Amino acid sequence: MPRFTDQVVLITGAGSGIGRATALYFAREGAQVIVSDINESSGQQTTSFIKAEAGRASFILCDVARPEQIASLVQQVVSEYGHLDIAINNAGIGVPCRR
Ligand SMILES: NC(=O)c1ccc[n+]([C@@H]2O[C@H](COP(=O)([O-])OP(=O)(O)OC[C@H]3O[C@@H](n4cnc5c(N)ncnc54)[C@H](O)[C@@H]3O)[C@@H](O)[C@H]2O)c1
Repeated sequence: MPRFTDQVVLITGAGSGIGRATALYFAREGAQVIVSDINESSGQQTTSFIKAEAGRASFILCDVARPEQIASLVQQVVSEYGHLDIAINNAGIGVPCRR
C-alpha cells in the first residue's frame, strides 16, 4: 500500500542527487510530486523519470536564493493542487561566513 497517496509533495533542488532520489521515492509512494530546481532541464528530466514509472509529477522553476520566487512557488502549488502536504527543502545555498 503506497504511503503518500494523493499527498502533494514539493521538493526543491530535485534536479539531481538527494532531491531527485527523494522525488522518485515519494512518486513511487503515490504522491503528487512537485519537482523544483534552478536548472530547468535537470528538473524536467526528474519529472520525466517519474512519469516513465507512471508516477505523477510536474516541474516548477525556482531559485531558492530568491525569496520572491519561493513565495511564488508555494502560491503556484496551492493554487494548482489546493494544498501542500510536505515540503522537502533540499536545495541549499551558501552564505558568506562572517569572521
Ligand atoms: N551529498 C551530500 O553528501 C550532502 C551532505 C550534506 C548536505 N548536503 C546538502 O544536501 C543538498 C542536496 O545535495 P546533493 O548532493 O543532492 O546536491 P546536488 O548538487 O546533486 O543537487 C543539488 C540540486 O539543487 C539545485 N540547486 C542549486 N542551487 C539552487 C537554487 N539556488 N535554487 C534551487 N535549486 C538549486 C541544483 O540544480 C541541483 O539539481 C544540498 O543542499 C547539499 O548542500 C549534501
